[in-house]
Amino acid sequence: MPAVSFQGVAKTYTGARGTLRALDGVSFDIEEGEFFGLLGPNGAGKTTLISILAGLARATEGRVKVMGHDVREDYAAARRSLGIVPQELVFDPFFSVRETLRIQSGYFGVKRNEAWIDELLQGLGLADKAHANMRQLSGGMKRRVLVAQALVHKPPVIVLDEPTAGVDVELRQTLWQFVAQLNRQGHAVLLTTHYLEEAEALCGRIAMLKQGRVVALDRTATLLAAAQGQMLRFKTDDPLPPELAAQARVTGRMAQVATRDAAGVEAVLARLRTAGVRVEDLEIGRADLEDVFLSIMQGARPGAPAVAGSALEARA
Ligand SMILES: Nc1ncnc2c1ncn2[C@@H]1O[C@H](COP(=O)(O)OP(=O)(O)OP(=O)(O)O)[C@@H](O)[C@H]1O
Ligand SMILES: [Mg+2]
Repeated sequence: MPAVSFQGVAKTYTGARGTLRALDGVSFDIEEGEFFGLLGPNGAGKTTLISILAGLARATEGRVKVMGHDVREDYAAARRSLGIVPQELVFDPFFSVRETLRIQSGYFGVKRNEAWIDELLQGLGLADKAHANMRQLSGGMKRRVLVAQALVHKPPVIVLDEPTAGVDVELRQTLWQFVAQLNRQGHAVLLTTHYLEEAEALCGRIAMLKQGRVVALDRTATLLAAAQGQMLRFKTDDPLPPELAAQARVTGRMAQVATRDAAGVEAVLARLRTAGVRVEDLEIGRADLEDVFLSIMQGARPGAPAVAGSALEARA
């Protein structure tokens, strides 16, 4: 039995300005004990899919099951099987951290939960904040509490919707150690993140959503192997020639250009030379998940396969 099963899920939002198809025929399973990544640009439908899983939104079409329980017909059992860390920071300002976790335990009918609550506080670096009021916590601390809240009832399926947005490096590491340990103990994890290096490091399989459709779904290793290209990275203060600029990933002074092979690297270097672009700190490396993601998202239509290589090479 899969831990989570999405079958033909569609969601249409109807508003004053017409209708929006936020999800369109999404089908995939997450197996028990899997660490599964759901990636996609802003507005792709990730949170909508998670809201449907959590029973917070209704699918327009399709079925969703958690540990075999239909999220509509068997809501309570489905919800009990899930621990969800929401993307938005939501909390009750009147309670302390420990009270918040006790109330959440009570909500799931879990009694005598103090030992596990202590473990959560310890594991998430909240031990010294147990008596602090929720409104006194910093944003990152509140997010830690949200993670603890999702885990109070030791759910078999853990769902993390961008848990590391706005979170410092230390907590990221603590959080991933903690979640990876739960995963090793058999909990399935569904993670959405815009930090693709996190997804690459943690997820065994990854689905990519674009405009409400699954445009890629495979083992992380397979997705990475499909991007056989070489990635050229360099710094420059000069503008790139237009055809290079169109395919480069530019972050401040840093530019990255994907190429298929050594000949592609040479073609890019030759083009930079003839354009008089002065280059510093040149490196050639393997493509990473971010390259795979961008090439899939730039693919013309949903369902189009990932393409390695570039327009420049096609002309070269
Ligand atoms: N309650 C709502 N009413 C109308 N439209 C909505 C509602 N919730 C989401 N949408 C729209 O549905 C689409 C998908 O949104 P969603 O929040 O699922 O994206 P996302 O993949 O989680 O994005 P992000 O990475 O920014 O969190 C967007 O176009 C969004 O504007
Ligand atoms: Mg979202």
